[in-house]
Parts: sequence; structure tokens; C-alpha cells
Amino acid sequence: MTASTASASKSTVNVPAPERKSDLLPVLGRIMEYMSGGQARGRFLLAVFLRSVGLIGLILMPWLTGQAINVATAGGSGSELAMWCIAALVAGAFYLALSTVAERQFADLATRALENLQTNLFNHIQTLSLSFFDRQPIGELLSRVTNDSEAVARFYETAASQIIRAIIQIVLVLFVMLVISPELTVAAMVVVPFMLILTFAVERISSPAFAKMQEEMGKISGFQEESISGHKVVTSNRRQEWAGDVNDELAGSVFDVGSQAFFTSLLQFPLTTSLIMVMTVIVLFVGALLVLDGQTTLGVVIAFSGYAALLGSPLSDIANLSSTTLNAVAGGRRVFSVLDEQPTVVDAPDAVPYEFKGGDVVFDNVDFSYVPGRKILKQNTFHAEPGMKIGLVGPTGAGKSTIINILTRYYDTDSGRILIDGQDLRSLTQESLREQIGVVLQEAFLFTDTVMNNLLYARADATKEDCIEAAKRANAHEFITNLPQGYDTMMTERGANLSQGQRQMITIARAMVANPKLLVLDEATSNVDTRTEKLIQEGIMALSEGKTSFVIAHRLSTVRDSAIILVLNAGEIVESGSHDELMAQKGFYYTLYMSQFKGKAPGGAESGTADFIST
Ligand SMILES: Nc1ncnc2c1ncn2[C@@H]1O[C@H](COP(=O)(O)OP(=O)(O)OP(=O)(O)O)[C@@H](O)[C@H]1O
Ligand SMILES: [Mg+2]
Repeated sequence: MTASTASASKSTVNVPAPERKSDLLPVLGRIMEYMSGGQARGRFLLAVFLRSVGLIGLILMPWLTGQAINVATAGGSGSELAMWCIAALVAGAFYLALSTVAERQFADLATRALENLQTNLFNHIQTLSLSFFDRQPIGELLSRVTNDSEAVARFYETAASQIIRAIIQIVLVLFVMLVISPELTVAAMVVVPFMLILTFAVERISSPAFAKMQEEMGKISGFQEESISGHKVVTSNRRQEWAGDVNDELAGSVFDVGSQAFFTSLLQFPLTTSLIMVMTVIVLFVGALLVLDGQTTLGVVIAFSGYAALLGSPLSDIANLSSTTLNAVAGGRRVFSVLDEQPTVVDAPDAVPYEFKGGDVVFDNVDFSYVPGRKILKQNTFHAEPGMKIGLVGPTGAGKSTIINILTRYYDTDSGRILIDGQDLRSLTQESLREQIGVVLQEAFLFTDTVMNNLLYARADATKEDCIEAAKRANAHEFITNLPQGYDTMMTERGANLSQGQRQMITIARAMVANPKLLVLDEATSNVDTRTEKLIQEGIMALSEGKTSFVIAHRLSTVRDSAIILVLNAGEIVESGSHDELMAQKGFYYTLYMSQFKGKAPGGAESGTADFIST
């Protein structure tokens, strides 16, 4: 396997290894719970009741036919014969009518179950903390929403109601068989142990294979998602052929393991059918012996062989559905493992909404690590007073974005406190906090929608006029009106049909629409030309006016006017102060500044175009 296949194969949500202990029944029970539990319970029980009562009609049919045969063999009247035959037809019609109603209920329950499962999954993923997404390749996760829930969907659509019908039928038919002839029932049951062994063996072999297949499908989805969204990188590195090869390899392994899984489980059907035929032969043989011995009538034997057939068909139905069922269990297991993930950042039980009192932010000895054992922020302490602009600078990987991540509480700190207007961050609801903190991220993210809708996204009650006003203040109005359909121009995925600078201006306008009380900007001015940078900077200034704001910058010119500049290095705040103070110290900041403006007069008007040198 190539290095990249290995990286595509990282699977991070814990799926319990199926071979350790079979969790088939608990997972199946949980899948069924969606169809039969909660609000669906009443309807489900009604459907089961209708199905059971209807089956009585079906079960009566062989008995009624048996009676007709007994009339014929005993030389009874034609009208008596006709009566039994009509009764058999009425029983059949009764079965059909009730089954149709029950079937309708099951169909509704199945579609509703699927809808609930998918909505639950999607909504649950929305509640998970960022640390979950750090561990989880997006394509793999999408595979759980699509491939895995699809496997469960097929079970709901085709198998669930048939299996329920089969089980009811088996129970009822067995009961009637026992009543009619315990001897013949025992004879028919001879094959049952073989069927159980068969089912057990198929499950043992197929279940791990299906689990593997769903996992492989997750890997291939992950790889495809990465290759398609990273198309430019694939092409520019001339790796299309390689991507095709890796894809083939992954698809090949899905095929291998899939065909093994399906083959084993499909074998169950012909084997079960053969066993059912053996059962019929045994019943007829033992029945004939009993007739010869004068212990029973031919009518009973014929009725009984009818019952044997009624017992055989649900058994073969179940066998026939085993691949769908086992595959659904494999998919269900993966879906449930996501549903069982708990968000790591949760509101305290007594969390209160954040009350804005000017925007005073204190970091008090804050330590933080993304993964245990690797400290990223070390003893960060600083104080941002209301309305202050705080600049964050430092080499790449120093922890600037991380400070923002914990200030917005995407992650919880390891130790130390963060106070916002005197309230501990952990005592506040996340929702109220994020409502007041506007964030313009390093990577501008726009939805596949119109420019206007991307702006409206920021605030539920924003009007179009608010958005246009915000765009004007963010200096974005001019270029937006020059787009082919102005504010109604559709963005392609993630705003790919705009330039990076334009995307940034829209995200600034979006933050302006949200009108937050505090503001966080992560390198919103990188990679743009000087004129655009100036426009963006004016936008940022308008946006941050009077607000406590945190501005991360690679270009030191962006943060020169900050009240306090925090200089980070390897997770530590090594210096802090105003630009002039830091320059006077001639320390870390001074060196960075000088290296950035090498060859130019420090503070020169056009000097902002120089790139930050991250060493
Ligand atoms: N989600 C994550 N999981 C684990 N480690 C992470 C994660 N995000 C960042 N890190 C690590 O944390 C450190 C700080 O990263 P951070 O993104 O805060 O840097 P930064 O100062 O914003 O850098 P840049 O200027 O390049 O944006 C880096 O060493 C990085 O490898
Ligand atoms: Mg960063």
C-alpha cells in the first residue's frame, strides 16, 4: 500500500470489532426501535395486530381445504364440499384485506424510521465539538450519512416488515401445527437445529465481512472527497493517474470484501430452501405412516403439509433477507457510533446566557492542548479592556488561532480561567457567547448560494437593506454590484468563483451583518494586493469600531495601531505592549518587524505588502 492509501485508511470513530462479541441483536434492536419505539409504538402495535389477525385467515386455509378433502374422501355431499371451499376463499380474502392495511402501516413506519434516523444523525453531528471533526476525515463522515444509513434504509424498505410478518407467521403456524398433530410437528422440527446452525454460521462469516465492507466504503468516500475537493492540488502535482490507481485499489478492496459478504449470506437462501424441502418430505413420510397405521386421516396430513409450507415460506424469507439485514447491522453500527459520540464542549447544567458589559476579556494562566500530552498554549495571561484592539502576532504554529479557538469556546482549556465581562467562560451558554462574538476566519467560507443569502446567514432577523448597508461599510458593495447578477449572483462551492480578497470582503460584511459585540479576525488580510488590502483594512476598522477586537496578523502593519500587541512564540506570550513599546524593547517583536520590513523604511506607507517571515 502506498503512503497515501495508508493515510486514506485512517478510521477514527471507534467501531467495535464485530468478531469480538456479536452485537447483532442489540444493533438490530436499536434499528428497529426507530420503527417501533416512541411515537411510532401505537401504530407499530396496530400493524402487528392487523398482521396477526390477518394471518389467522391464511392459517385457516389449509385446515379448511383439509376439511373439504375429508368430505370428498368420506363421500360427503357436494354442497358440504362447496361450503368448505367457499370458507377457504373467504379466509383468503380476509387475509388479503388485513394484510394490505398492515402493509400500508409498515411502509409508513419504515419511511418515518429512516427519516428520523437520518435527521437524528445530521442534527447530532451539528452538536459535536470541533475536536470530533479534527479526528474524523470529512469524506468518511459523509459516508456514514450516506452509505451506512443507506444500508439501514434498505433494511427498512425491504426487510423489516417482511421479517416481522415471518416471525408472526412462524409462531402462529407452529401453534396450529402443535394443536393438530404433536407427532407431525416434532417430525417437521427435525430440520430446525440444522437451520439454526446454518444461520449462526452465516452470521459468523458474513457479519465481519459486511462490517469491513462498510468501513472500506468509508475509506473510499474519504479518499474521493479529498481528491475531488483537492482537485487543483492533484492536477498541479500531476497525480491524477496516481489518484485513479489508489481509487481502483480501494474500490477493489470494497468489491472483494463485499462479494464475500454477499456470497456467504446469499448461500443461506438455497440451503434453507433445501432444508424446507427435506422437512416437507419428512412430514409426508411420517404422515403416511400414521395414516397407514390408522392414527390420522389423509385430510389432516394434507392440511399439515400445507402448514409445513406456511412455515417454510417465512423461514426462507428470513434467509433471503439475511444479507440485507446483516449489511444493515454493519451500517447501523457505524451510524450509532457517531450518534453515541458526546460533544466534548458542553454547557454547564447551570450555564447562564452571556451578559455583555462592554467586552472585558481576561486570560488568566491559561494552558491548552488539542491532544493530551502536547501543550499548545502555556500560561497565557493577558487583559483586554472594553473596546481595545488586541493584535496577535508570532510565527506560524505559535498558537494564535488556538487562542481564538478557546476564546470562542470551540475547545475547553486544560487549566486557568477565561473571564469575559467578569463571567467565567465555562459558566456561560455557548450559544449566547457566539451570538456576541463575531469571527472572520483565516479561511473564508461561503455557501453555495447567492451573495445576499450568504450575508443574510449571519443573523436570523437581518433584512436585505441591513446586508447592503453592511456590504457598503465593508467596502464590498462596489465589487458585488459589478458581479453578473449583483447580490443575486450564485456562489459556486465555497465561493470558488470569487477571488480570495473578494471572499474575505464578503465574510467581513457578513460579520458586520451579525453586528457582534466582540470581534475576532484571523489573518483576514493575507494574500491580497495592496489596494484590496487597504479596502479590507478599512472594512475591518469600520467593523471593529468601538468593539473589543482580536486581530491576528501575519503582516505587522495590520496590527500596528493595536492598543496591545501580544507576541506569541511556541504557545507562550513572550512580549506584550503597544507597537512603540515593543519596538523600544528591541526584543522578539522588534526582530520580526525588522526582518519583515527589511530593505524598506519601517512604517513606510506601502510597506504592508511585505510578507511575514515565520522563523
Ligand atoms: N485541531 C488541531 N489538533 C491538533 N493540533 C492542532 C490543531 N490545530 C492546531 N494544532 C497545533 O497547534 C499549534 C498552534 O496552531 P495554531 O493554528 O494556533 O497556529 P497559528 O499561530 O495560528 O499559526 P498560523 O500563523 O500558521 O495560522 C500548531 O503546532 C498546530 O500543529
Ligand atoms: Mg492561524
